[in-house]
Amino acid sequence: MTQDEQKQAAAEAALDFIETGSVIGVGTGSTANHFIDALARIKGKLDGAVASSEASAARLREHRIPVLELDSTGDLPLYVDGADEATRHLHLIKGGGGALTREKIVAAASKKFICVADQSKLVDVLGSFPLPLEVIPMAKSYVGRQMVKLGGRPALREGYTTDNGNFIIDVHDLEMLDPVAVEERLDHVAGVVSNGIFARRGADLLLLGTPGGVEKIG
Ligand code: 5RP
Repeated sequence: MTQDEQKQAAAEAALDFIETGSVIGVGTGSTANHFIDALARIKGKLDGAVASSEASAARLREHRIPVLELDSTGDLPLYVDGADEATRHLHLIKGGGGALTREKIVAAASKKFICVADQSKLVDVLGSFPLPLEVIPMAKSYVGRQMVKLGGRPALREGYTTDNGNFIIDVHDLEMLDPVAVEERLDHVAGVVSNGIFARRGADLLLLGTPGGVEKIG
């Protein structure tokens, strides 16, 4: 089974958690795209979806799935999204696709967060994947200097602007033995809109595609 087939199997396994007549949150990335494509097959069951990015909203619309604004839906029963890294404690690094801020908002507003991923994303300790920060443009150098003070190696994602008009700094080599503490620490750096650690609000369930089938963690 290829990595992409593992992503697809995990994404399709999340369909079982959708309640008829609900509005659900939908994430961003190649695994979330598999989920959106699978949703198209059962779209009669859904009242609509809240997307965590313009790209996912466009893909939902291509499948004629109604795209709703979080402001008008209130809290959601379910959010399904991928991750760049995940631990068995259901702590995640997200934001490889640059959508971390909207992803964090939709995850926060959702009762259940199911993370869908292929087996390569499972790690013992977060941090091999460079941590994405969404940063207000005028703060990029200041935030970079603060990351160096914390022992990280910041790299501006060249030529990239988020859906919110901000920049992404990918921070390499940050120690993340206590992801909750690091997430909180980074949230207090002026100019950081959000960071890609999802530990305070981690996933509730991880569906991990493996060559032997979909493993449920959580
Ligand atoms: C986007 C994300 C994605 O969930 C993450 O990058 C995983 O992507 P993929 O499913 O393509 O491996 O956080 O901001």
